[in-house]
Amino acid sequence: MTLKRTHTCGELTTRNIGEEVILNGWVGPRRDLGGVIFIDLRDRYGITQVVFTETDESLHSKAEELRAEYVIGVKGKVISRGEENLNPNLVTGEIEVEAAELVFYSEAQTPPFEIKDGISTNEDTRLKYRYLDLRRPEMQKKMMVRSKMYQAIRNYYHYHNFAEVETPMLMRSTPEGARDYLVPSRVNEGKFFALPQSPQTYKQLLMVSGYDRYFQIVKCFRDEDLRADRQPEFTQIDVEMSFVDEEAVFEMHEGLLKEIFTETVGVDLQLPFPRMTYDQAMSTYGTDKPDIRFGMEFVDYSDIVKDAEFKVFSSTVENGGAVVGITIPGQGEMGRGAIDRWTDRVRKETGAGGLIYIKMLEEGPLCSVAKFLNADIQQQMISASGAKTGDLVFILAGPKPDVLEQLGALRLMVGKEFNLIDEDVYKLVWVTDFPLVEWDEESRRYHAMHHPFTSPKQEDLEKLGSDPASVKARAYDLVLNGFEIGGGSIRIHDRKVQETMFKTLGIGQEEAEEKFGFLLDAFKYGAPPHGGIAFGVDRLAMILTGSRSLRDVIAFPKNQKAQSMMDSSPSEVDKEQLDELHIQLKKKLS
Ligand code: AMO
Repeated sequence: MTLKRTHTCGELTTRNIGEEVILNGWVGPRRDLGGVIFIDLRDRYGITQVVFTETDESLHSKAEELRAEYVIGVKGKVISRGEENLNPNLVTGEIEVEAAELVFYSEAQTPPFEIKDGISTNEDTRLKYRYLDLRRPEMQKKMMVRSKMYQAIRNYYHYHNFAEVETPMLMRSTPEGARDYLVPSRVNEGKFFALPQSPQTYKQLLMVSGYDRYFQIVKCFRDEDLRADRQPEFTQIDVEMSFVDEEAVFEMHEGLLKEIFTETVGVDLQLPFPRMTYDQAMSTYGTDKPDIRFGMEFVDYSDIVKDAEFKVFSSTVENGGAVVGITIPGQGEMGRGAIDRWTDRVRKETGAGGLIYIKMLEEGPLCSVAKFLNADIQQQMISASGAKTGDLVFILAGPKPDVLEQLGALRLMVGKEFNLIDEDVYKLVWVTDFPLVEWDEESRRYHAMHHPFTSPKQEDLEKLGSDPASVKARAYDLVLNGFEIGGGSIRIHDRKVQETMFKTLGIGQEEAEEKFGFLLDAFKYGAPPHGGIAFGVDRLAMILTGSRSLRDVIAFPKNQKAQSMMDSSPSEVDKEQLDELHIQLKKKLS
């Protein structure tokens, strides 16, 4: 028998006192107080205290059998808890339900960890029993934030007349630059589908088809090295728009972000978002995803030290490198041991050669390489650094862009270590004007920095053949608190430019024809100018819920080895299955 619930466990208040109600849920801790039994009944809406008195003996003895995580239905009357037993932390904290009927739906074994917030259980165990982990209130809250995100996203795009179109999961390999997950075709011997790294080519085709505003919330798959902010299987908000320039894409998506933030965390974002070119981001923060929640912008000392006798500085500058630093407020008194630890850490974690410092002591500045630098240069460096008494300046010297990236990493470490980052704010910034291509030493060819369909800046078009490295792209990223949450571009819609782009990337006509012929063909039949963007839903959800890992906002994520602990996938398959797929494994795996 099912007692059909009249309320959830998160809604009864003093207004319901006297009402007869039915609740369904999971049993939390049971407390036996001198014959009266109390339980917390929990569902995803909240917790309600249920009390079993001794008046009904059979009901009371049934209640004695209750254990944690049993699933039950309770019928009873809402009563006041009385002043002394109030729980101000719960919506339902002023009432309790006095049980008159109890139905057991399901018993439960003792779970491997307690179903409550703030547990210290290791993550693999949590992932193995993910269905229990997801039962914990903090996880349920995160999932609900994600659910609200979907709703806000759909409402926003439908309001703005976007068409929601699904694109295939089984497709040709995509050009996003990671490895593909392949799916063998049984009926086409020796042939494979790839799972989409993104629906990039499809959304461009949809523009050719006239769906001038398209969006989709879509799963993407990339076989790449995993990090806390990367999953092999992740979700994008994928968008493409026709007849637009960068401004139109920015404006539409600043609106989207505003809507998402209002609906999920109740934060009213200020529009428009600030912008920064890629070059500015690199020279000021040493990264294309700057965390602008805190300062410590780079100071470039290269000009000041280019003629210094200190060879580490002068020859670095002479060889095209840079001498750059950050000024850390209030750390001027840092001791020898602590500085040594920073030096070690910066070497190990960033690969920097060494760390030079200036301590701004009460008695005057103390520079670690003072004996190699004359007083004038030291003075110029100090005034460029903006350091005040009590501050500390860290300086790195080395080739570009490595030294910028190393200092960028150091800036983040320092920011975290000294609590300089305001964890309660959301700072968004568009990063624009990315280079179109980057040189890859290993394959000795240029790679598209974004993807091969990204349009070069009009004014750089001529340099595409002669000096590709200097060409800027009409590409942009949206960065939130130091995470890249979205990226996109205005695309090439001219077949000729697309062909030149392929040539630049060392993709011959035949290869281009074979891989992207369908797209190039489509462009023969009238392609509108178009551009778009894709956002990482998981990353956004991670930041909006204050989580440290994407795994915390994905219902059933993979671990760091791209495995599912719960269903033990990937797994071996039967020989018959392989035979059907015409696949023979190279060697027997143990
Ligand atoms: P991009 O490759 O920049 O662009 O991806 C868009 C956004 O997707 C998120 N993302 C990821 N999230 C979790 N795990 C991953 N492994 C992962 N990889 C990417 C990031 C990123 O900003 N087709 C283009 C978009 C376009 O040009 O319109 C694309 O996929 O938040």
